[in-house]
Amino acid sequence: MSQSPQTQTPDLFTPLQLGAIQLPNRIIMAPLTRSRAGEGNAPTPLNAEYYAQRASAGLIITEATQVCDTAQGYPNTPGIHTDAQTVGWRAVAEAVHAAGGRIVTQLWHTGRISHPLFQPNGALPMAPSAIAAQGQLYTGQGMEPFPTPRALETAEIPALVRHFADAAKRAVFDAGLDGVEIHGANGYLIDQFLRDGANHRTDQYGGNVENRARFLLEILEATTHAIGADRVGLRLSPTGGFNDMSDSDPLGHFTTIAKTLNSFNLAYLHVIEGLPGNAMAPAPGLPHVAAALRAVYKGAIILNGGYSHATADAALAKGEADAISFGEQFLANPDLPTRFARKAALNEPDRASYYGGGAKGYTDYPALESVAA
Ligand code: PHB
Repeated sequence: MSQSPQTQTPDLFTPLQLGAIQLPNRIIMAPLTRSRAGEGNAPTPLNAEYYAQRASAGLIITEATQVCDTAQGYPNTPGIHTDAQTVGWRAVAEAVHAAGGRIVTQLWHTGRISHPLFQPNGALPMAPSAIAAQGQLYTGQGMEPFPTPRALETAEIPALVRHFADAAKRAVFDAGLDGVEIHGANGYLIDQFLRDGANHRTDQYGGNVENRARFLLEILEATTHAIGADRVGLRLSPTGGFNDMSDSDPLGHFTTIAKTLNSFNLAYLHVIEGLPGNAMAPAPGLPHVAAALRAVYKGAIILNGGYSHATADAALAKGEADAISFGEQFLANPDLPTRFARKAALNEPDRASYYGGGAKGYTDYPALESVAA
């Protein structure tokens, strides 16, 4: 590589190595739930077309993807635990690679953010503790209050850890994806363990931050062992209130966790902390944690939370992050890097077509070339 990172201020167009993955730019496509998986929650040719359209991203992080049959919390979100799902992902990976891109899949278990309608045999969703999230979820049959989940038995936890590792193996070795991102953010199962508002356990998975982080660390141990740490990323949202999350000391707890992460040599850490005014900004009274994580975490950091081309370049120039991820802008602009490079106008996202449906609001956002034609 001719690039010399020491002598040049990085911007969004500076290449970057994230673990085993070589990125031509630092414009990352953030994971976006689109609820358009097909039969058996398998990715479809339309999903492959959508991702391939966005292959100019430095890296695509897919929508969150179930690691097992208890992991689902929304209609038509994809899984990667059956053969049909894995075949669907293989077609996605092939389409993105053929278009010159790189793609990792985000692995999740939604924990208490689910409903018996999504669970095998209509069972209750599982969580670290039997504490319902306040609010409602969309089931595909209207809005329903979040149910009170059942607390996991200690003896059930190793199987959940294995599901993440098995999903990672399927993703890389069977589907040919470039890696995985472990979804430890936004109030889903791993985050439910991490933050003390949702974890009241009294076994070795609850209590102090070391115990609450045990589930995450076991998942990282298993997945990095399964596919190599240089193909595993992790997403965290220390201050996010989404899905009724709270923590008594986000700064202290997540700084401790970030220090522990150093020993894993992950491909990257992906931190959600919205800029002021963004929906993912820390609630009033909560500290900003991203800078503290940057100070203690030695690996690459991707930041997310309402960045523009200008604020992203500024964050990279100041060394606040190594890359920036963009959600809604990538949803509505398949050619986002080209638009940034040309300082072109961006298509506006259409919220009504975010979740569910077909090509409309999914694969029909125009790229610049077709606008100009
Ligand atoms: C959503 O579907 O609203 C959603 C999914 C995953 C996230 C955040 C939001 O991490």
